[in-house]
Amino acid sequence: MNKGMKSKLSEIRNDYRKAALSEEVSPNEPFQLLESWIHQAIECELSEPTAMVLSTVNLSGMPSSRLVLLKGLEQGILKFFTNYESAKAAQMEKNSGIALLFFWAGLERQVRIEGKAFKLPSEESDQYFKSRPRESQLGAWSSRQSRVIASRDILQKEFEKQQALWEDKIPERPSFWGGYGVKPHYIEFWQGRSSRLHDRLAYTLINSDWIRQRLSP
Ligand SMILES: Cc1cc2nc3c(=O)[nH]c(=O)nc-3n(C[C@H](O)[C@H](O)[C@H](O)COP(=O)(O)O)c2cc1C
Repeated sequence: MNKGMKSKLSEIRNDYRKAALSEEVSPNEPFQLLESWIHQAIECELSEPTAMVLSTVNLSGMPSSRLVLLKGLEQGILKFFTNYESAKAAQMEKNSGIALLFFWAGLERQVRIEGKAFKLPSEESDQYFKSRPRESQLGAWSSRQSRVIASRDILQKEFEKQQALWEDKIPERPSFWGGYGVKPHYIEFWQGRSSRLHDRLAYTLINSDWIRQRLSP
């Protein structure tokens, strides 16, 4: 990185003034607030409002992160879909403890979630797979996610092969593709405020009660 760029990086800063998060407006349980923040991000037409960073950990304790899209939030379970033979799936198989993170820059908001991941029932994955555009369905069939491939051409050829295979049929869900649910035990809402005096409200599930605490920014 050149010297000019370095000094520019250290000069990038924002003072956050858009909103506040107080105990008075926060419910006793976190899901209503999470839903309303997600809806606000969608309504504001932010780019990828449902994108969340999913962090998994391997058996040596090494974390790894990537974006996935939230596809459902029902009865306190967050849902996303992926390849069951991917690197992330292998990590969740061995260690179901995961973290999720939403960041909505346009709203000066972050939500941190920690919980346990589990595979969704196959009927639910079937249902969601059916709702996907045909190209995405064929894309799922064509990709052995996370594996090394020699070239992009291989991927394209596999896609064409799948197009021919499913030519006059509705593609079924591949057994190696499906959904995960996440049951959180920690959800923290962060609202940027002026002078770095940000609002942080953390909800922790203790037994079956959510305890809400304010954290110092
Ligand atoms: C905005 C965005 C959304 C994404 N959504 C998904 C998703 O819903 N499911 C998925 O498997 N990968 C998704 N990806 C790709 C993942 O970030 C990642 O590259 C892929 O899942 C392989 O991860 P892994 O090798 O760690 O398993 C998305 C990437 C971006 C940038």
